[in-house]
Amino acid sequence: MRVESPYDVLEIDADADEDAVVRAYRRRVKEAHPDHGGSIAEFKRVRRAYEHITDGRDPETFDARIDGRRGDGSSASRGDGSASGDGAASASDGDGTGVTADDAEAADATDGADEEDRDLGPTVEYLDFEVLESHGWQLSDEDLFEKAEAADLGVDSHGLLVVEPRETLLEAAERYGFSWPYACRGGACANCAVAVVEGEVEMPVSTVLNDEMKAEGIRLSCIGEPVTDDLQVVFNIGKLPGLAELRLPAEQFESARADD
Ligand code: FES
Repeated sequence: MRVESPYDVLEIDADADEDAVVRAYRRRVKEAHPDHGGSIAEFKRVRRAYEHITDGRDPETFDARIDGRRGDGSSASRGDGSASGDGAASASDGDGTGVTADDAEAADATDGADEEDRDLGPTVEYLDFEVLESHGWQLSDEDLFEKAEAADLGVDSHGLLVVEPRETLLEAAERYGFSWPYACRGGACANCAVAVVEGEVEMPVSTVLNDEMKAEGIRLSCIGEPVTDDLQVVFNIGKLPGLAELRLPAEQFESARADD
């Protein structure tokens, strides 16, 4: 059986020049985006193909599988936008369609300068912890994000976002119009805690998190910046044992900001 090459993924000839590769990537990343009828798996596959080519790696070594499975082009993760809770995500796209700044992000990724296209920034697949609770899923489930994609969740509960340079995870989520939980925004509580299931998020300062929490992948989204290209993150985990005790009343900081 013929092995799929990165050029196949971008739908171009293997002798395509640099400009053709960039143009194809612009087109394919838009087609593959979940908000444009693609899927998270396909989006990652296109990105991986582009990086494989631009890194100058041997096409024969390209592995089109995403997390051990082939991108299936299944339907986008969109739906009812039902996430809610203690300051947790709620759609803020205004019209109830679930369309968020993902569209703008896809446009940025496809319409920007060549250099920007080459450096898309870390891609974060996010999932609301409330979805785990409502479906009886566990953070430790190996197929957690595959189940999330199959569940056709709303974009405020599950989707993709791209983090810009020197941007924290929380800032990126807010740029997309999401309202992820937070209070102090300075590493002094656990309201903004996320569980990093795949990839790595670094925090620049010491925090209230103990070593055990950090070893389990718990990070604070208000000060955490992704340092790997692809991440899977469960947000809104502040109610978990150990973290709940570290939470601060968000209202107190809301009023402080209002008084500024
Ligand atoms: S909001 Fe308090 S540590 Fe992030």
